[in-house]
Amino acid sequence: MNIVVGITGGIAAYKAVNVVRAFVLAGHSVQVVATDAALRFVGKPTLEAISRNPVHTDLYEGVAEVRHVAIGQAADLIVVAPATANFIAQLAGGFAADLLGNTILASAAPLVIAPAMHTEMWQNAATVANVATLRSRGIHIVGPAVGQLTGADSGAGRMSEPDEIVAAALAVVEPATVEPAAGDLVGRRIVVTAGGTREPLDPVRFIGNRSSGKQGVALALAAAARGAEVTLIGANLEVEVSDGTGAGDTSAQSIVVQRVGTSLELSDAVTAAALKADVVIMAAAVADYRPESVAEAKIKKETQGDILQLTLVKNPDILHDLSAARSASNRAGQTIIGFAAETETDPEALLALGRAKIARKGCDYLVLNSVGWTTGFATDGNAVKILDSAGDIVGEASGSKKTVADRILDLLAR
Ligand code: CTP
Repeated sequence: MNIVVGITGGIAAYKAVNVVRAFVLAGHSVQVVATDAALRFVGKPTLEAISRNPVHTDLYEGVAEVRHVAIGQAADLIVVAPATANFIAQLAGGFAADLLGNTILASAAPLVIAPAMHTEMWQNAATVANVATLRSRGIHIVGPAVGQLTGADSGAGRMSEPDEIVAAALAVVEPATVEPAAGDLVGRRIVVTAGGTREPLDPVRFIGNRSSGKQGVALALAAAARGAEVTLIGANLEVEVSDGTGAGDTSAQSIVVQRVGTSLELSDAVTAAALKADVVIMAAAVADYRPESVAEAKIKKETQGDILQLTLVKNPDILHDLSAARSASNRAGQTIIGFAAETETDPEALLALGRAKIARKGCDYLVLNSVGWTTGFATDGNAVKILDSAGDIVGEASGSKKTVADRILDLLAR
């Protein structure tokens, strides 16, 4: 694919080097279009070495080959990272004052931008209106994340991590290009849990999490499409169990769906289903604690006063218990896969958390991903590393949740 990476003038421009690098390593041809301001933050030689192509900046270079429109016309995808407040305003206004503006206006390719700025600028009414304009035009916006900014301050406005930007951008264009999966899981009985459990406080309230179930449902659909007999245990799914092609629910027909609400219900359902499974994949986000008691009637402010104290008790660790039960039974051939949702952003520290988690849980593989206010949960893209029980990285995947699902299932097919 021909990918244009636009870089505008913010301190996060140094992280754009890793965006370019990830696209190149994934086999794409990358043209970098940097603004003059971007080149005050990151060097042209660095970008040329990493992209393996000349970097374009000047509107008046390459005029004979009509470069100001040629780059945009040849693009299959344009990604701007970082996108400053000024660039967002220019884009909303349709300005073509520089090469990047021209490239974007001359292109019919999907456009993905990763904003980066201080919180006040992100929340300024002008930026809010400009971002709404861009969204209404179908421009995809990744982040920004909440975290440490350039100075000592932190808040919303930090550019999303490069692998998240790359995953989200590829997810925009990939659905049409993902190869059909072969029937390499025929005869395998696979149980997948998906979604997020909810722990009731009273008849109308619960403690929950933001998991939508998209990754687990993508796993169930991909496994069914590859011939597996799938049981999907869904906790409060926010997505339809359909193959998304609009051509009918063919793969969903080979999936048995069981709906659950709480962690204890999920535990009962998966423990029973695991007795007859070759593979169990715990993609669900399970509440670690539940209210000690559930009020019969709605909890009222009048009786609680200014402070409401909740006592929570620990839920069973289902993944740990499944792994332990397998060792104690004759299900030695069963493969158990866990997920780890971590908010750690440092890649080394994230790996260390993953290694400690798989050792604690006793499963065969752990799919490690980074979650945050704007990443991981409820998004269309994902970026993961897969660890084996020794803590070694045995797979990496980024892109749409379907792509990530297929890379996880590849391990089983092998
Ligand atoms: N999990 C589980 N039972 C729980 C909590 C989690 O089976 N009570 C499973 C999840 O489905 C996932 C894996 O364990 O496959 C890791 O979940 P995660 O939320 O990342 O870890 P926790 O075990 O909850 O640990 P912590 O919250 O301390 O990181």
